[in-house]
Amino acid sequence: MSSNNAYMNPALSPAERAADLLPHLTLAEKIGQMTQVEKNSIDPNDITQLSLGSILSGGGGCPEPNTAVSWRDMVQGFQKKALASRLGIPLLYGVDAVHGHSNVVGATIFPHNIGLGATHNPDLLRRIGRATALEMVATGIRWNFAPAVSIPQDIRWGRTYEGFGQDPKLVSELAVAYVQGLQGDDLTLETAVLPSVKHFVADGATVWGTSPRTARSALTGTETDAALSALASAHEAMMQQAVFSGAWQIDQGVANIDEATLRAVHLPPYLDAMAAGALNIMVSFSSWGGLKMHAQKYLLTDVLKGEYGFSGFLVSDWEAVQQIDPDLGESVIATVNAGLDMVMVPYHYHDYIAVLTNAVETGKVPLSRIDDAVSRILMVKFALGLFERPFTETPVSIVGCAQHRALAAEAVQQSAVLLKNEQNVLPLRKELPRLLVAGAAADDIGYQCGGWTISWMGSPGRTTDGSTILEGVRDCVGAETAVCYSADGRFDESAEVGLVVIAEEPYAEGMGDRADLCLTAEQQALINRVRPQVDKLVVILLSGRPLIVTEPLANWDVFIAAWLPGSEGAALAPLLFGEQPFTGKLSFFWPRSMADIPLNQEAEPLWPIGYGLTTAEVQNA
Ligand code: GLC
Repeated sequence: MSSNNAYMNPALSPAERAADLLPHLTLAEKIGQMTQVEKNSIDPNDITQLSLGSILSGGGGCPEPNTAVSWRDMVQGFQKKALASRLGIPLLYGVDAVHGHSNVVGATIFPHNIGLGATHNPDLLRRIGRATALEMVATGIRWNFAPAVSIPQDIRWGRTYEGFGQDPKLVSELAVAYVQGLQGDDLTLETAVLPSVKHFVADGATVWGTSPRTARSALTGTETDAALSALASAHEAMMQQAVFSGAWQIDQGVANIDEATLRAVHLPPYLDAMAAGALNIMVSFSSWGGLKMHAQKYLLTDVLKGEYGFSGFLVSDWEAVQQIDPDLGESVIATVNAGLDMVMVPYHYHDYIAVLTNAVETGKVPLSRIDDAVSRILMVKFALGLFERPFTETPVSIVGCAQHRALAAEAVQQSAVLLKNEQNVLPLRKELPRLLVAGAAADDIGYQCGGWTISWMGSPGRTTDGSTILEGVRDCVGAETAVCYSADGRFDESAEVGLVVIAEEPYAEGMGDRADLCLTAEQQALINRVRPQVDKLVVILLSGRPLIVTEPLANWDVFIAAWLPGSEGAALAPLLFGEQPFTGKLSFFWPRSMADIPLNQEAEPLWPIGYGLTTAEVQNA
């Protein structure tokens, strides 16, 4: 890359620089820029040879060992390969840092969006976005596949927790703040991160039973669904159980809404994020108007890019292009012509490149469409200052730093919603003779974090650094208080107060679709073991959505929705003992029964959006 070319002049606008660089690219290099490959499938030399545009880590796409330093070494290694290409166009590395840099062991894990929605606090979201960006760039990564601006209508959906809430205005407000936090004050700085607003559009409006994946999810060896087939092959019993519970019944399904509803409810957060400078949008797996979103030219090109002037680039979702047609060539033609700019292939990139090249050479995809896509991608790379600063300088010591963990603790406290507090049982006295604490989830960071943590679906256990609810309780109580813990709720002794923590098993995407949201028999049994042992029963729920609690609630004195609080679970304890007041307010309707799902105006919710009790702050608690 010679320095006397105009495109190397940072004084020019990103669009001017992209326009000046584009003619220098061969067709092969242009198509290379439109290609995103997952990091386990790439031959690093191809990054150089093919002038690849992007590499990503999917959920759990971690280097070995999974440390911030090895993440940084991996990403920098890929970047060096890109800079060695003929034109030296820098790479954009993408990752799902959806609640902190959540693939990385030791990173700060913030509450998932459903909990952040309950904070109703844009300033907090902006600070979380900034902290997340700093931990990402410390590992060399400048592109976050977040925020999801889903507005879930049916909370049986496994991605409910990725949504901030069911009020589009609140979703917009929090998403804009988070986007601003990720971007920082100057997008060209190495501490700035490119948000990916997702999944366009109306991913949360799909109808139960309309997901095309159900038919395939129990099968293996399905070409157009390599990831799910691999999961089904490797974990057949788990997959069968998940499918029995409703997995892949609604995720990636059909949004049966009219255009007026799509524009009024689901589109505004994208427009607001674009107004805040967002330059990337990820397209949804779901369908609308009889078409998969990835082939929806009207919405992708006419509406988003035409009517609303979106100037950034559209990226596909994982293997989403292959879902359009059994023939890869037909799928690529349909989606690129619809307005898709970069394809998250993510495995067989040579096949993708070959069919797209053939499509251009045979005129099935106009060169003008390729040039438009590549211009957009290059413009964003110039806007991020990648040509000037392809490497980041932020020290890895910032990953999981005390300041960020304190911010996460603040978010945990503002996200917890107090839904029942019979006779003001809370705040608890710190000087209790004995306090019973029950539930495996009371002492488990993996349950606190839920999906998209270290691995795609997350998992129970001490999967990363942090603190548990039980550890927080032990820190809070007076020296004389005996804290008795039992994962299964079996205690010999009784006590004035018992805390029971119940949790959903961690899940992600359609693996979390559930037909029945009532408490499981195991959850009820745990609570019922403790109930007779205590005078006052406090139930804390760790979940990615409201669950049906109407019947058993009568036997509980206190009920707290803590959502998926992340790595700093100990921060819940000061709320229990009055050091901090509860301030969280629901951002989702809480259904009385399964009859209230999906969201419908006729249903009288158990608790409405905005509901949440507070507790008097106990002085000198
Ligand atoms: C997944 C998700 C998307 C994520 C992408 C990369 O399938 O749908 O939200 O950003 O793949 O992991």
